[in-house]
Amino acid sequence: MTTSDDKKRQAAEEAAKYIQDGMTLGLGTGSTAAHLVAAVGLMVQKGLTVRCIPTSEETRRLAEAAGVELIDPDESTVIDLVIDGADECDGDLNLIKGGGGALLREKIIASSGTRMIVIADESKNVAQLGKFALPVEIDRFSWPLTIQKIRRVLEAQGIKAPSLNLRPGPREAGGGVYRTDGGNYIVDIACVRIPDADALDRALDMIPGVVETGLFVGLADMAIFGTDAGVTVVEAKKA
Ligand code: A5P
Repeated sequence: MTTSDDKKRQAAEEAAKYIQDGMTLGLGTGSTAAHLVAAVGLMVQKGLTVRCIPTSEETRRLAEAAGVELIDPDESTVIDLVIDGADECDGDLNLIKGGGGALLREKIIASSGTRMIVIADESKNVAQLGKFALPVEIDRFSWPLTIQKIRRVLEAQGIKAPSLNLRPGPREAGGGVYRTDGGNYIVDIACVRIPDADALDRALDMIPGVVETGLFVGLADMAIFGTDAGVTVVEAKKA
């Protein structure tokens, strides 16, 4: 039986075939991206030269352990290829990301890459975004006021009675409120269904206090899904 982790690894290994010598790579975050980091580590051992930018402290640690050369994001103006996981991916390759809390850095890097490949197991391939709770990163200052404004925007966007939850911190780290690598909070929004991801992303980004949303609209060029029958590759539709 092919497990969900096998499917994640298959997708990551397929995406690694698009890596070329000399590239600057954006390395995503999460359990699927961890397989990619491992694959890049093996390729480096065999002689590949790449420079990588991690999208989280977790990925930085994994990449260092795998012997992958990292560069400071401040040093790079060109990123050839970004490979990252997703929590949901629709038919237009719009994504929900941020389940692992790294959405801000992931979005900065995804929007800077010449090309972005999404890697996931087939359960992330959805007809419409919204079943997975949408993460939105917010500044800690006056966060209840920001949440109030988010709720109003959601209702104006036709998302009825959304439930918004401030993400709790990991129990092993003493609980409390989750903090991103940048020190912000995350609100997870159970939308059920997102009628217009682009409009919602833009409207949420207008709220003072919202740092970034987990909606990645029009950023991915290709999605690779691991399935029971091997990998499925979906290319973004050209405008
Ligand atoms: C990290 O913040 C996320 O955007 C991840 O890329 C996403 O949650 C997918 O994670 P998995 O690969 O662990 O499912």
